[in-house]
Amino acid sequence: MNNRKISLTGIKPTGILHIGNYFGAIKPALKLSETYDARYFIADYHALNTVKDPIELKSNIREVAAGWLAAGLDPNKVIFYRQSAVPETFELTTILMAFTSKGLLNRAHAYKAAVQDNIEKNDDPDAGVNMGLFTYPVLMAADILLFDSDVVPVGRDQTQHVEMAADIAQALNFNYKKDLLTIPKALVQENVAVIPGLDGRKMSKSYGNTIPLFAPEKQLRKLIMRVVTNSQGVDEPKDPDSSQIFQMYKLFATDEEQAALAHYYRAGGMGWGQAKEELFRVMNRELTPLRERFEAIMADTAVLDAVLSAGAEKAHIIARRTLERLRDAAGING
Ligand code: TRP
Repeated sequence: MNNRKISLTGIKPTGILHIGNYFGAIKPALKLSETYDARYFIADYHALNTVKDPIELKSNIREVAAGWLAAGLDPNKVIFYRQSAVPETFELTTILMAFTSKGLLNRAHAYKAAVQDNIEKNDDPDAGVNMGLFTYPVLMAADILLFDSDVVPVGRDQTQHVEMAADIAQALNFNYKKDLLTIPKALVQENVAVIPGLDGRKMSKSYGNTIPLFAPEKQLRKLIMRVVTNSQGVDEPKDPDSSQIFQMYKLFATDEEQAALAHYYRAGGMGWGQAKEELFRVMNRELTPLRERFEAIMADTAVLDAVLSAGAEKAHIIARRTLERLRDAAGING
């Protein structure tokens, strides 16, 4: 019997993984799995809202799943599955709908932003808004509540969704006068540095400034050479703290390496090209084993699919238990 707390998070397969995902989401979630019972899943039905090309969705799902495994997720320790393979999620969504006020969903940031955008363009307020977007927080609440999650590691943009899941769970518990659902809490990594992208802004798919986590060596090198710098010449002393090359370097280099490079910056005589070469060296050193594992996993997707199915089976057992508990309480079960 163990009484470890439960950590759960969903990964939306909407694009290929990049360095920002690795430091901002993957590494912290894997760290958490050392002390929590972790349930991490690919939120494929959430991705369907925006990814309508089946070939693209299918390859995103596989690449993202392979990416987490390559980055160190151990499927023997973490229950790792596809959302779509746990149909209880969708039955729970229906139950939760009955406890979710429309007003709550009207206040969801993503929906509000889409409506605001339309209004500014003088368009119909609901243009391009599908019900998947509007009810997104309810599906996400089902993901979370189905597995008795205590903590949900997410980025800051997702905390409102976790709060909504907590609200919905409370409404349901209140109605049946029983703690049927665990009230979840968002866990936002406070001390993760903002990872700068190629142009110096935060690395993000929406800015198109990312470095793919599994970029082949040649491409990685090319991308690093494209990182923007100021126009200081080779001889000029440079400030490591305001240099994004140095900010990236810190993520991959040892303390000694960081101290040495900072020294070369301040001393002058080192050009940006040389700093970039040094960045490439440490980045490639850490990423090469990940890339190799990723390529090996992608070369045999039957094994990958089997790993995900085995995870879904474990998830299914927990999910069924939760759902039976709720159906009983609601008077749906005979
Ligand atoms: N909405 C999350 C995102 O866009 C993904 C997600 C879906 C999720 N279901 C979840 C995250 C449940 C945490 C818990 O990143």
